[in-house]
Amino acid sequence: MSDYSKANKHTTSFYNKFSFFYPLIDVFLRPQKRILFNEINKLPYGNVLEIGVGNGSNLSYYKKHDITGIDTSQKMLDAAKKIAGEKAVLLLMNGELLGFQDHSFDYVVLSHVLAVAGNPESILEEAYRVLKPGGRIFILNHFTPDNWLKYLDYSFQPVSKAFRFRSLFYLHRLETLKKFILLSETRVSALSYFKLLIYRKA
Ligand SMILES: C[S@@+](CC[C@H](N)C(=O)[O-])C[C@H]1O[C@@H](n2cnc3c(N)ncnc32)[C@H](O)[C@@H]1O
Repeated sequence: MSDYSKANKHTTSFYNKFSFFYPLIDVFLRPQKRILFNEINKLPYGNVLEIGVGNGSNLSYYKKHDITGIDTSQKMLDAAKKIAGEKAVLLLMNGELLGFQDHSFDYVVLSHVLAVAGNPESILEEAYRVLKPGGRIFILNHFTPDNWLKYLDYSFQPVSKAFRFRSLFYLHRLETLKKFILLSETRVSALSYFKLLIYRKA
């Protein structure tokens, strides 16, 4: 088993156990999600793939698009299914190996999944593959900023491992993003810690 597969196995097991408590974290993330969905809902009707859809806490924000959500945690998906009704197709699937054809989606949403996934580069490669030409990818995540918060991220590393995410997470190290065209980069919290990035596939 590769290191990435092992990491994904641990992450899945963590989220299976943690699904009950995730709504507590989500309360804190809501203001930035409102900014994300303000952008998504401005765009013309299309089909969206949300990778790492989790417990479906984002589903109520989508106003007009067709939604497919995938996740590796069955427990998170079970919670999402209770909310989704007819609104979304939800599938147990690894974002690093998507079971969709090339050019299947108009939009891909990565909301707090990149710093959690075993191999974020594979998630981005797969997102690129399944996006239609001209399609957009929305990335909402924390990124280690170039200010004193980087020391906090650094010191938090041992704890963050236990919670299955990378506290030290640099945007400029994500090589696959170079394949996309950056449309906007918005700080969605103080001190540039959380960012919303919107890219287009050429
Ligand atoms: C922090 S939660 C974010 C949930 C939701 N997107 C949100 O913004 O609230 C991360 C989710 O990503 C899922 N995840 C982690 N690695 C994944 C992968 N390789 N493929 C699909 N989902 C993954 C986890 O199971 C978890 O449900």
